[in-house]
Amino acid sequence: MPVDRLDADGGWWALTTPNSTYVISVEVDPETGEAAPLQRYWGPALSLEAARRVAGMSGGPANPGGARRHMTSFSRPVEIEELLPVDGGCRWGVPSVQVAFGQVRSLELRLAGVSVTTEAGGDRLDIALEDRCFPFELVLSVRVFHDSDVIERWATVRHRGGTGDAPIEITRFDSGSWFVPDSAVYRYSGVFGAWAEEFQLQRAPLPIGELTFTSRQGITSHQASPWIMIDPGDATEEHGQVWGVALAWSGSWRLTVTHRPEGGVAVSAGFGHEGVRWRLGPGDEITTPPVLGLYTRGGFGAASRAWHDHARRHILPTPQEERPVLYNSWEATTFAVTEAGQLALAKIAASLGVELFVVDDGWFGSRDDDTRSLGDWWPHPERFPDGLRGLFDGIRGFGMKAGLWVEPEMVNANSELYRAHPDWILRMDNRRHDEKRSQLVLNFARPEVRDWALGWLDRLVGDLGLDYLKWDMNRPFTQAGWPEAGPAQDRLWIEHTRNVYRVMELLRKRHPHLRIESCSGGGGRVDFGIMRHTDEVWPSDNTDARDRQIVHHGFSQIYPAGTMSAWVTDSPNPNTGRSAPLRYRFHVAMSGVLGIGGDLTTWSQQDLDEAAELIDAYKSIRRVIQQGRQYRLAGTPGQDRSAVQYVLDDEVVVLIYNPYGNAKRGPRWLRLAGLDPDALYEVVDAGGTGDGPGLLRRGSLWHGSVLMAVGLRSAAWEPIGADYRSDMIVLRRHHRLR
Ligand code: GLA
Repeated sequence: MPVDRLDADGGWWALTTPNSTYVISVEVDPETGEAAPLQRYWGPALSLEAARRVAGMSGGPANPGGARRHMTSFSRPVEIEELLPVDGGCRWGVPSVQVAFGQVRSLELRLAGVSVTTEAGGDRLDIALEDRCFPFELVLSVRVFHDSDVIERWATVRHRGGTGDAPIEITRFDSGSWFVPDSAVYRYSGVFGAWAEEFQLQRAPLPIGELTFTSRQGITSHQASPWIMIDPGDATEEHGQVWGVALAWSGSWRLTVTHRPEGGVAVSAGFGHEGVRWRLGPGDEITTPPVLGLYTRGGFGAASRAWHDHARRHILPTPQEERPVLYNSWEATTFAVTEAGQLALAKIAASLGVELFVVDDGWFGSRDDDTRSLGDWWPHPERFPDGLRGLFDGIRGFGMKAGLWVEPEMVNANSELYRAHPDWILRMDNRRHDEKRSQLVLNFARPEVRDWALGWLDRLVGDLGLDYLKWDMNRPFTQAGWPEAGPAQDRLWIEHTRNVYRVMELLRKRHPHLRIESCSGGGGRVDFGIMRHTDEVWPSDNTDARDRQIVHHGFSQIYPAGTMSAWVTDSPNPNTGRSAPLRYRFHVAMSGVLGIGGDLTTWSQQDLDEAAELIDAYKSIRRVIQQGRQYRLAGTPGQDRSAVQYVLDDEVVVLIYNPYGNAKRGPRWLRLAGLDPDALYEVVDAGGTGDGPGLLRRGSLWHGSVLMAVGLRSAAWEPIGADYRSDMIVLRRHHRLR
């Protein structure tokens, strides 16, 4: 059973996943009656008997006096181990819940009940608490799955009062706090970034103090991502324990790691940010987004693979589909979108084997540049006097699916929509309406804005039979007010995001074939929240192959390759001016969901022929890349020799890179991972074959154990040669030896 009671009184619970155990106890102070749910263990799987011993050692049923000692310990505050430390009582750390009843800003909670629910795929534990004298209820929920080591947590607060009772104000409401077991050293890993430089991996010792990653932008943000991994300082890609926490939310968020001077580390994560206040009237409730926790052994690689598996099993809407090779027109035509221009690109794209053609910005209103027309979602009358049907019929005539770029949450002041509904934007009385990229944010929390967006998107998708929407969101919130909502206005920070989810969900329901890509000025909205509603995400507007290797490396830490859209664009790259061979650019984009984004009308016949071959090769192995288990084999991507491997059933794909031809340092032999040591593997594609030990030949058979212990050699990694060499090697398990 995934959730088991460890004692007769129901104060201790063990939650079991396939490879880990999580022990919770509800401590009740015998003098005050105050209840605090604590995390007592999170680590390698324990038998129930062993879990009972954990309980015994820490003052559980076998040692009742210990509980009280724990609650009152002065040298090591207990709140660090609480599932959701509240602001109240003898607590001085970062509160996960902060509530005000008028002038009283302190919670005193007692236990209202614990329940276990058996659900399809796992079990769920709910711990209900209530304030001692105010009509306030807090429910902590924990879910475990039969087929995943990820533990999902969330919380709900309710105003239990009746008419006439004063509202309750919430200034902090995290989804959960996670205690990371004792260690002499702690190290954290996360990603930071900026526009066109997202997902830069950062790994450093965890300082004593409170380390906060946050977005105050109303979107997930380019600067930080809502996840963290913590290890005892000795984890490598292949070895060691790693604890991870990820928040599934696409609006503002905050994740704070507390590293106490006395020892002890906790991670509390939730939506919102400081300064925002949510008001609960009588009968109201708020539920947080889920926060996910994952304990793994086997290093950062195993942690990443467990996150990817969980995303495929429990988050993504269509993980079993092969993602089509798409073409996107943005870098080729920017705003100069015409039927003839797009069809000229579409014709070439189709001849290369592209399966989905996406028309980007510039097709609507009078959108000749980025200063106008967001909100006016009808075909540009001069460019498309007869509408868009001709363009989309043309695209389909070439045998491709059709997609369109939209930015539903935005409006330009220079638009029909803004002139008709100036009150629909985020705004505050007596404050400026600051613009970014000449645009303002529509208040999606307003039901009429949500319904308007759903209405035109539904018609657009239906009328044009669209297969794909690229849903963009190019600017953060500012002056985020909703004057008509009065003191309840800050709910917009939650409801905006929830209504984006809702519109996506309803669109998908009404148009089951529709697939959606999340984009936000590049990778500004990539998280496990949006991934429930989208099939792909765009990680960065930077399409330079070498920069993208670094982005892909950071992205892969928790998000699976099958969600990551990656285009091959022109060389020199429009963002960086750097040139790279077509093959290298392809091999980088093939490490995710391959797309093409260059101006194909300028590509040489030789490039087009090579592109067609590479697209063909990608299609033959894409299932392995998009749905397989990923191993980051070696090196620092984008900086020296590196390789990434994917394994699905019997199929193995290895992508090998070497940006600096003359580098003498670094590995020459590439050891594979995750193979069956007792099987022979056949070389299906040998990549850049050559002579000599370790260089593969098509059709030859290799022992899995040898490929993992000794490795293979790739021409791309040989020490003397041109810059930007790359290779793709494909192996298939041939037969087992025993
Ligand atoms: C954002 C996106 C780009 C493109 C432009 C269009 O910057 O990230 O891919 O769609 O908007 O304006």
